[in-house]
Amino acid sequence: FTNQCSSQIFKITVNFIQLIYMNLAVVILAAGQGSRMQSAVPKVLHPLANRPLLSHVITAARQLQPAQIIIVYGHTGNLVRSEFSDTDLIWVEQAAQLGTGHAVQQALPALSNDIERVLVLYGDVPLIRSVTLEALLASSTDGFGLLTLSLDNPTGYGRIQRNSESGQVLGIIEQKDASVAELAIQEVNTGIMALPALHLSDWLGRLSNQNSQGEYYLTDIVAMAVQEGFDIQVTQPRQPIEAAGVNDRQQLATLERALQQQRAADLMLAGVTLKDPQRFDLRGELQHGQDCCIDNNVILEGTVCLGDRVRIGANTVLRNVQIGNDVTILENCVIEEATIGSESCIGPFARIRPGTVLAKAARVGNFVEIKQSQIGAGSKINHLAYVGNSEVGQGANLGAGTITCNYDGANKHKTIIGDDVFVGSNSALVAPITLGKGATIGAGSVITQNIPAGALSLTRGKPMHIPDWQRPTKNKP
Ligand code: UD1
Ligand code: CA
Repeated sequence: FTNQCSSQIFKITVNFIQLIYMNLAVVILAAGQGSRMQSAVPKVLHPLANRPLLSHVITAARQLQPAQIIIVYGHTGNLVRSEFSDTDLIWVEQAAQLGTGHAVQQALPALSNDIERVLVLYGDVPLIRSVTLEALLASSTDGFGLLTLSLDNPTGYGRIQRNSESGQVLGIIEQKDASVAELAIQEVNTGIMALPALHLSDWLGRLSNQNSQGEYYLTDIVAMAVQEGFDIQVTQPRQPIEAAGVNDRQQLATLERALQQQRAADLMLAGVTLKDPQRFDLRGELQHGQDCCIDNNVILEGTVCLGDRVRIGANTVLRNVQIGNDVTILENCVIEEATIGSESCIGPFARIRPGTVLAKAARVGNFVEIKQSQIGAGSKINHLAYVGNSEVGQGANLGAGTITCNYDGANKHKTIIGDDVFVGSNSALVAPITLGKGATIGAGSVITQNIPAGALSLTRGKPMHIPDWQRPTKNKP
């Protein structure tokens, strides 16, 4: 009975959500020039946690499952459009930036006939969360919803004007048009609004640009709606940072830190130890097992998967890496597009490049570079080596200074190193080449031919000894 009951409630909830969002279009304003970024790159393409600002806003919009997502872009629009090839996005050009009201007006012809509600977001307000937008939409089901904030320092924002007795919202006055009394108002417009589609065309068509900035202000439609009897429903985000915009690179850095702090807090709650949450950056997705420990200044990018009890030393960068259980990565390693088998140990100062797969309990030490290679279980490459385009078996030992000469100047060739091979220090293995199982290479060799299993191979000049050697002496002037 309980199950039936909860599935019924679930169905009702799902229907309710569909009722809210089925006829919703999200309009993202992204046409502003962003001149304060002092950049050749359009503002909404500047990265936050390695993703363009606009992409964060699109993600929040998609979580609402709206019928349409319309992006209003400006003069550098082609650069912006080419970053986002997804077919669910509708692009509308605003050729001249005449104001936020004018921007929304450009989107109207793209709205489908059955759209009932329009949610306006800003392409440069990236930390807005879908739960907040859901609350805004739910509070204003078929009316006019406004997301506001109360700030100690409201400078720069449009101020929310309310009826002093009823508290009802009457309109928004922009900073540059406000009187001294209005400037004292601490409740501000975040710019994010939920609007009834039916009235938009009328309201936007009646906007005037007779104001201090000579712009068509979207904010002016609030007073129009109030005059037509709308009761403006106000919602506030749980955290002010959600509504923070990026206008310059200082604000960009502030939001980056805020986002990283949030991610660090979430990870610690989920059981990851961060030695210093202020010095940790996750610029992608992290999946993790139990009891992982991450030291200071670690940067994770792309998709990183950690098994149980993985330890990552200070100043390490991991980019699209899969790491098994009980792996230790010591300080100052750079690992990308690689798979690290359980119980392996890497570093300090190792570089593992794309296409590398380490099997269980492999050991890669300092100043070792590995690229596009498989390293078998328990094999050791402990010091100063380059291994590229290679297959190394199990239990092999590649001594200090082992170099696979994989490149002849035109093509890359493969090196195959069998199980239990021992390569003496400072050896060059000229590919294509195969070292049979259990082969031994004498230190300082240049190996150009395949070595049979179990053989010792070495290339060395004959030693020469000249007794009582006299060193040269300086010429007299
Ligand atoms: C706007 C609001 C203000 C609010 C503030 C919140 C208006 C008139 N004012 O002011 O009440 O407190 O945001 O940050 O709406 N854009 C276009 N085309 C344009 C102009 C702007 O696409 O012609 C886009 C910008 O790229 C940006 C957003 O709209 O994403 C806001 O524009 P911006 O000029 O920053 O508005 P504010 O003056 O800050
Ligand atoms: Ca702004």
